[in-house]
Amino acid sequence: MSFVDYFKYVDNQYYGEELSLSEIAAKVGTPCYVYSRATIERQWRVFDSAFDSYPHRVCYSVKANSNLAVLDVLTRLGSGFDIVSAGELHRVMRAGGDAGKIVFSGVGKSDTELCHALKAGVGCLNIESESELHRIQAVAQELRVKAPISIRVNPDVDANTHPYIATGLRDSKFGLGARDAERVFVLAAAMPNIEIKGIACHIGSQLTETRPFIDSLEKLIDFIGQLARVGIGLSHIDIGGGLGIIYHNESPPTPDQYANALINVLKRRKCNLPIIIQPGRAIVGNAGVLLTRVEYLKMSSDRNFAVVDAGMNDLLRPALYQGFHEILPVRLSGSSTRHAYDIVGPVCESADYLGKGRVLDIGEGDLLVVRSVGAYGFSMSSEYNSRLRLAEVMIDRDKYYVIRKRQTVDQSMENESLLPR
Ligand code: LLP
Repeated sequence: MSFVDYFKYVDNQYYGEELSLSEIAAKVGTPCYVYSRATIERQWRVFDSAFDSYPHRVCYSVKANSNLAVLDVLTRLGSGFDIVSAGELHRVMRAGGDAGKIVFSGVGKSDTELCHALKAGVGCLNIESESELHRIQAVAQELRVKAPISIRVNPDVDANTHPYIATGLRDSKFGLGARDAERVFVLAAAMPNIEIKGIACHIGSQLTETRPFIDSLEKLIDFIGQLARVGIGLSHIDIGGGLGIIYHNESPPTPDQYANALINVLKRRKCNLPIIIQPGRAIVGNAGVLLTRVEYLKMSSDRNFAVVDAGMNDLLRPALYQGFHEILPVRLSGSSTRHAYDIVGPVCESADYLGKGRVLDIGEGDLLVVRSVGAYGFSMSSEYNSRLRLAEVMIDRDKYYVIRKRQTVDQSMENESLLPR
C-alpha cells in the first residue's frame, strides 16, 4: 500500500480532512502549521502493517515533528520512539509514551541526558563511540542499573541523497566502522553495567530507492555473523529510518516495497532477530502544510516575487537543502493571470525563500499552502529576526485543535534580562 494524505481541493477551496484552510486561517491567523490526524494515523498504520510478517517495532523518529499532540496520536497507536535528546525524552514521557519502547540515538549524549534516560528506563541506548560506552558504564554504575545498549555501525553505503542528510558513508561523524565496532562490542560485553541488546545503523534520510537499505542490511547481517564468532549474541537489529516521501516528482518505494525488500534479505539470510525501524518523515512528512499569506507582490522585468508572511525561520528546508515543497493557492480563482513567482519570506537573508519560479495566479492578501512540511518543518524552526514561533493546528475530521499557541512577544523575551542598573 502507498501513503496518501487528506489535503485536497473541494469546490476550489483547499481542505484538510473536512475543514477548509481559509477557515483555519481566519480563526488562528497566519502563518501556521496545519496537520491532519487521519493522515498521521494512516501513515503509521500502513508502515507498521507493511512489516506484519516479521517481528518488528516502529520507533517514530521524534526529531521529525515533536509536538505533544503528534506524539499523543502515535502513542495511542502503540508506537515506540527514536529520540536524540533529553528534551525529546521528556516530550515522549509527557505524551504518555512507553519508555521501554524508546531508542536513544545521537553522537553527543551528555551525562545528564544519560542519567535521565536510564532513570526513565529507556529500551536502548544506541552508542556511537567508544568514549560513549565508557561514559554509559560509569553513569549506569553510579545509578546501580544495567544499561541496555546497541552499537551503531556505519555500513559505508552511499544513500544517494542530499549530502547534509547522508549519514552512512565512512567519513560521517555517525556510528563506528566495522573494525572499531567489533572492538567496542567486545569491550561492552565485559562491562558489568552494560547489557548488549543489538546493533543499529541509519544511513541517511529521504532515500528514494531500496538498494542502499538492502546493502546496509546485508552488511549488518555479515557483521552479526562476525560477532557471533567472538561469542556476542544480539536480540535486535535497528535499521534506522530514512524512507523518502513524494515532495515533487520523486518515486520512493512504497512502505510495502521497502518492508518486503528488507524482509526478503532477513529471510534469505536466515536471520530471525526482531527489527526496529525508525521512520520520521515517512510518518508525518505529508501530514502537514504551512499556511501562509501573501503580503506583497513585487513585479519586475527580471523576476517576480511574492513576499509571504512565513520565512526560512519557520521552514528551513528550502534554504538549507534546496528542498522542494509544492506551493498552492488556498482558493482557486479560475482567472488566467498566472505569473512565475519566487515565493520569499520577510527574513533578511537571500536564502529566505520557500519556492522559486512557481507559476501561480495570486494577489496580495491571498492564502497559500506549502505542502509536505509535517516533517522537519516546525521542529527545525527558529526565532531568527525575532520572529515569533508560529501556531500549530491539528485537524481531526471536522474539528481542529490549536496544539501550539502562537508565541507572544512576552514569551519570546521571558528568559532574557536587562543588565543591573
Ligand atoms: N534515525 C536516526 C538515527 C536519524 O538520524 C534519523 C534522521 C531518523 C531515524 C529519521 O529519518 P527519516 O525517516 O525522517 O528520514 N532535517 C533533514 C532530515 C534530517 C534527518 C536526521 N536524522 C530534512 O529536513 O530533510
